[in-house]
Amino acid sequence: MCGIVGATAKRQVSGILIEGLLRLEYRGYDSAGIATQEISTKSFNRIRVSGKVRDLVVALSEQPIRGTGGLAHTRWATHGAPIERNAHPHIANGRIALVHNGTIENFVSLRKELEDSGRQLDSQTDSEVVAQLVDLGIESGSTFLGAVQQTVARLEGAFALGLMCSTDPGTIIAVRKGCPLVVGLGTDEHFIASDVLALRSVTNQFIFLDEGDIAVMSSGSLQIFDEQGQPVERDSIRVSDQGESVDKGSYRHYLEKEIHDQPQAIRSTLEGRITEQHISEPGLGRCVSEIFDKTSAISIVGCGTSYYAAYVAKYWIEDMAQIPCSAEIASEFRYRNAAVLDGSLFLSLSQSGESADTIAALRLAEQRNYMHTMNIGNVPTSTLMRESATAIAMRAGVEVSVASTKSFTTMLVDLLLVALLLARRRGFPREREHEIVKALHILDEAVECALLLDDRIRQLAEEFLLTQHALFLGRGVHYPVALEGALKLKEISYMHAEGYPAGELKHGPLALVDADMPVVAVAPNNELLRKVQLNLQEVRARGGRLYVFTDEAADFDHQNDVVVIEVPKVHPALSPIVFTIPLQLLAYHVATLRGTDIDQPRNIAKSVTVE
Ligand code: M6R
Repeated sequence: MCGIVGATAKRQVSGILIEGLLRLEYRGYDSAGIATQEISTKSFNRIRVSGKVRDLVVALSEQPIRGTGGLAHTRWATHGAPIERNAHPHIANGRIALVHNGTIENFVSLRKELEDSGRQLDSQTDSEVVAQLVDLGIESGSTFLGAVQQTVARLEGAFALGLMCSTDPGTIIAVRKGCPLVVGLGTDEHFIASDVLALRSVTNQFIFLDEGDIAVMSSGSLQIFDEQGQPVERDSIRVSDQGESVDKGSYRHYLEKEIHDQPQAIRSTLEGRITEQHISEPGLGRCVSEIFDKTSAISIVGCGTSYYAAYVAKYWIEDMAQIPCSAEIASEFRYRNAAVLDGSLFLSLSQSGESADTIAALRLAEQRNYMHTMNIGNVPTSTLMRESATAIAMRAGVEVSVASTKSFTTMLVDLLLVALLLARRRGFPREREHEIVKALHILDEAVECALLLDDRIRQLAEEFLLTQHALFLGRGVHYPVALEGALKLKEISYMHAEGYPAGELKHGPLALVDADMPVVAVAPNNELLRKVQLNLQEVRARGGRLYVFTDEAADFDHQNDVVVIEVPKVHPALSPIVFTIPLQLLAYHVATLRGTDIDQPRNIAKSVTVE
């Protein structure tokens, strides 16, 4: 998703801006640009490219640009194609340079108004409209800040903005309304960025702007105004370096590394949270016990992979704790008038903590009758973590690849602990908790064993090379695992894949099955195995190609039309975690064979900060 970096300093800033853009690359984008300003000349120097930051670097090496202030941007196209003309920074009338993240929902009427007044716009974007409006404000006699405030008051939607003005050289104005934006504090320099990661090479001191804040900064000054235009003080936070390496090591892709990081990520997740036999409540964070004591229903909300984690948790929580639990897609929840049961806990799940729909769902939950809000997230400084009343910090480590892998499995581990703590309060036998905790102690080893399937699955992936579709089936708690397997395959290999509850097959999707349709079944040896086997017979009878992931040779005939892949046997409560691993490997190898952009698949982004 769009990434913003800005700097105003006493030194040249183009290097800082490019470094920031490179650090934001993981978010996903399709064009990039930079504009700098020299205090002496006041005018802007701009370079934009359709493509990657490395293309921008090449363009800069051919035509270096100077300036002690500047804005840079990676654009994830929403309004208008990913072409150079639509890339940011936009410059209106040579006077206003602007970078924007988010969407301006009323841009059509604003654009018409500008065009009717004789303004010619260069791009098809909603963003340029904002730059033009600010310029119009200045033309009508407003100050730079006044013009920004008047413009912002007219905008509908969620956005973060960075602006510079040729008549106010060295000043950056930053606006946060619905999309994340941080201010970085240096010595005689100030920075802005979509997330702290972009600025880690220049500062560790940050101000997280509040909703509606407008910050005005030069190299030596910083003033913040709240939504009402009143000057405010915001605390700065020192963000400590987690000392984590974000390089690929010897792996070809971040995705491959992150899949193989999972045993370690699981060990970190469990550290201090389980004793030899039990779950340690304080290990999950302050106040958690008190909240779970009062919880009699739970709504879990997330997007994409995080939603599938919620779906797995629904099965666990209802089964073990016997309390009503709903799992819902955040973009649906936010526009639904959901019934809220007494004692309901609202739990949001998000790797990035910045998914716009999940944030909106949390804000809605705050207005509704929820007993408490909680977030499980992987980025401690994220909006969701900061805005939720309580947070459980995931310990997946930095996840760079757009496709979530270790964040899914570690989120599941955290959710299993939550399920067990809720269950404990509802008479779940201590011995059963003990059995699961015992199994958790060796979960990392089971995941390591599952990763040994790598070679086998690499070979298998070749059978998916020429096919265009795949069906993923599961039942019970493994149905969301099938959904996640299908999502992984489609997002990185661009191959169409659908997840289905195996029992639903005969109600429609069976019509798709023929010899060209690989059907992947998640079929652990549990109480539903016989049912799944019956469903798979329906596939075989129609000549479908079956790939069955199971544990122990669970009575699947080793016949030509069935490929059986044996996954390490674990306690049934943990099998959704272990069965996820081979599906991630399958997606990775199919995508590698297809030659797609593994870590930054086309059209999608790591941090989805727009609705
Ligand atoms: O950061 P979040 O967990 O809120 O992100 C939610 C989804 O955007 C994310 O899981 C997405 O579906 C991934 N690309 C899946 O691999």
